[in-house]
Amino acid sequence: MGAAAETVVILAAGQGTRMRTSKPKVLAELCGRPMLAYVVEGALALEPQRVLIVIGKGADEVREKISTLFPDAPIEFVLQEEQLGTGHAVQCCSDSIDSTSRSVLILYGDMPLLRAETLMQLQQEYLEQGSRACLLTVHALDPRGFGRVIRSRDSSGSAGGALERIVEERDASPEQLALREVNVGVYLINTEELLRLLPTLQNNNAQGEYYLTDIVHALASDGGGVQPVVVADPEEAIGVNTLRHLAEARRGIQDRILERHLAAGVFIEDPDTTFVDWDVEIGTGTRILPCTVIRSGVRIGEGCEVGPFSHLRVGSVLDNGAEIGNFTETKKAHVGAGTKAKHLSYLGDVSIGSGANIGAGTIVANYDGVNKHHTDIGDRAFVGSGSVIIAPSTVGADATTGGGAVLTGGSVVPPGDVWIGVPAQSLADRKAKKGRGPDPSTEGAKP
Ligand code: UD1
Ligand code: CA
Repeated sequence: MGAAAETVVILAAGQGTRMRTSKPKVLAELCGRPMLAYVVEGALALEPQRVLIVIGKGADEVREKISTLFPDAPIEFVLQEEQLGTGHAVQCCSDSIDSTSRSVLILYGDMPLLRAETLMQLQQEYLEQGSRACLLTVHALDPRGFGRVIRSRDSSGSAGGALERIVEERDASPEQLALREVNVGVYLINTEELLRLLPTLQNNNAQGEYYLTDIVHALASDGGGVQPVVVADPEEAIGVNTLRHLAEARRGIQDRILERHLAAGVFIEDPDTTFVDWDVEIGTGTRILPCTVIRSGVRIGEGCEVGPFSHLRVGSVLDNGAEIGNFTETKKAHVGAGTKAKHLSYLGDVSIGSGANIGAGTIVANYDGVNKHHTDIGDRAFVGSGSVIIAPSTVGADATTGGGAVLTGGSVVPPGDVWIGVPAQSLADRKAKKGRGPDPSTEGAKP
């Protein structure tokens, strides 16, 4: 595409004091990944030559997370040791911005719902208008915390004219506070102008910070004009400053994820109570029933049924036609084709073959207090209700466990065998022993 923004700067150094949490704000999770990752993804869609991310609070953690998520992207990190404001954050990039690049796109790391298409639209306007700067504005229902867009009065006397300046909420007059057009915080600026104006920023405002928004005023007042581009959908401009905003942003991201699955032929009965992380694969014709949580990385085949009230955690894979029902939790569980675990089970660190039936209340106990162990359950196995299978254990193909059987760690149920009791042992062995009369030395011992 006609890349106007060869350089993208993303501001992500702030602590996020208003969140009242210790974690750096931009790493707050939304549907299984940090909010900053959504912003980085949007920026990368423009195929810029370089993305500079300004980091400060929790810098090492932010650098590590983002580098892991985008290993091949042209990302560089710039340290802002003291957070003296958004203008100061961009000042920290002055030396890193290539003065021969034509323009710089500046984004904030706490705006995860901005769509790549909107950034492209901004880029388009910038190229078409030939202005020195373009920025995104939005008509917000709730302008909480946003900088207000001040426009000049046009010939009719209404304040709908050219953009004059951005006034931060804390510096605004009651009249300005009543304005509903706000600054989204996305700017595309001619590189030369940006580098010329950055050193002129002052911090004489209510917060004693260097505001990036003052550059807008500088550009607008010397006649060059700053072109505002209005974002149609206010949801895109949900900025995350508090945990309340984080919950709103999560809802927005969640809706988009679910819409993608619905469009791909996944039946989701009640999107309002369905939680699916961003990188979950779900096959066509699968049904997701209410109150279900599906975490990052889970893969679900075609024609499956999950829920109501299921929790599929990291590393879970469901082959085609598998069914996981209410109050069943899976973790690192491979559930084979057509296998059913419909009620009240915990399936942790387990591979289950195809066509198996996992009875109500089955627990695969994977953790011995120190280590996790793996369990295998074969094709067509029938695990009786209330079975406890202590890992590591193996239940062979076509084998059966009786209701309430407890397979102690290291149990190996041969294919086709039937094991019952506590501790569980082969039914055939028990019968043979019964024929001989009880043997007190082995009765109740581990098979
Ligand atoms: C900012 C804008 C406001 C706009 C709003 C949109 C300014 C002065 N104000 O306000 O006009 O309506 O965003 O969301 O720009 N950051 C740094 N270093 C700093 C300060 C901030 O990297 O020294 C980063 C933060 O991590 C954050 C972003 O910049 O990701 C925005 O900072 P924030 O403090 O949230 O600005 P707002 O008060 O929301
Ligand atoms: Ca903000």
